[in-house]
Amino acid sequence: MHDISQYQDFFISYLNKQSINKEPKDLYEPIEYILGLGGKRMRPVLTLMAAEVFDADYKTALPAAMAVEVFHNFSLVHDDIMDDAPLRRGKETVHEKWNLNTGILSGDAMLILAYQYFEQYEPTIFRDLAKLFSKTALEVCEGQQWDVDFENRTNVTIPEYLKMIEYKTAVLVAAAMKMGAIVAKTSEQEADLIYDFGLNLGLAFQLQDDFLDAFGDPETFGKQVGGDIIENKKTYLYLKAIEFSSKERALQLQNLFGLQLDDNTAKIETAKAIFNESGASKATQEAIEMYTFKAFETLEKINISAEKKNILKTFGENLMGRKV
Ligand code: IPE
Ligand code: IPE
Ligand code: MG
Ligand code: MG
Ligand code: MG
Repeated sequence: MHDISQYQDFFISYLNKQSINKEPKDLYEPIEYILGLGGKRMRPVLTLMAAEVFDADYKTALPAAMAVEVFHNFSLVHDDIMDDAPLRRGKETVHEKWNLNTGILSGDAMLILAYQYFEQYEPTIFRDLAKLFSKTALEVCEGQQWDVDFENRTNVTIPEYLKMIEYKTAVLVAAAMKMGAIVAKTSEQEADLIYDFGLNLGLAFQLQDDFLDAFGDPETFGKQVGGDIIENKKTYLYLKAIEFSSKERALQLQNLFGLQLDDNTAKIETAKAIFNESGASKATQEAIEMYTFKAFETLEKINISAEKKNILKTFGENLMGRKV
């Protein structure tokens, strides 16, 4: 196996060799723009790593890794429309830089481009990849719908929240890993274990995304800090703050999250203060650790060398320490 930064380099040089920019330019330029903005490339790296964990050459997994990253970027373009987000990876979002229609159609095209990458595989692998991908993509849509539904609800529960983040985020991280396992033609049992590892890592990842959305450094975070508060997102921070606060404080937070304001400065300040004083911030950090360790427990059940386990563990530990 290689180390994590090498997998990143392998993926980026493959990505750079793709010719995406065709006519009409207003369809393809936004695709090149969003894919070129970088990002952590976490999902494709996981696909390549999973392939090598199960003894295949990472090169055989490059098209699948590309499919996952193109799908992820498609979901971001549409997510930014749904969340009314101005910034992505430190730059203007696609629908802000171009317009809404461009964001919708370029996003649609990316979803199709993602599928096309599977055509490079032989029939049985193609079938297994496409099947997993379709299931996953539909779940992401379901998660995204719940996420939006919850904006207007005041009685969201923690189990509902966990289901929502499992669907909108964790299943794609899990599927990214399972695709590596499929390409490597490993046993179904091992493939399911690596899926489970990815699922728990994905839950930890979204919990941290929620945390950083409120407490990230605006200089480096790359997204609008406080965006979830502005949009009344029912995050783990919010739900735990309601649970842990006095009646009055909880009511104050609930009322705050029923507002649509022009100037959100005070709303963001107050919400963050309540997240901290209630212990919700600490509870979120603990949940991030809990799901990461749960992922590590699954890892122990997989029949691979200690060296390989350590590389995957390091990946999980790095995610916990991330700032973007
Ligand atoms: C952002 O994903 C969307 C979530 C599921 C939280 P990433 O944080 O992986 O975004 P990039 O690709 O690194 O920019
Ligand atoms: C993103 O959730 C999930 C998907 C894109 C499917 P978020 O809305 O929290 O992602 P960011 O914070 O905008 O990256
Ligand atoms: Mg968003
Ligand atoms: Mg969203
Ligand atoms: Mg977010």
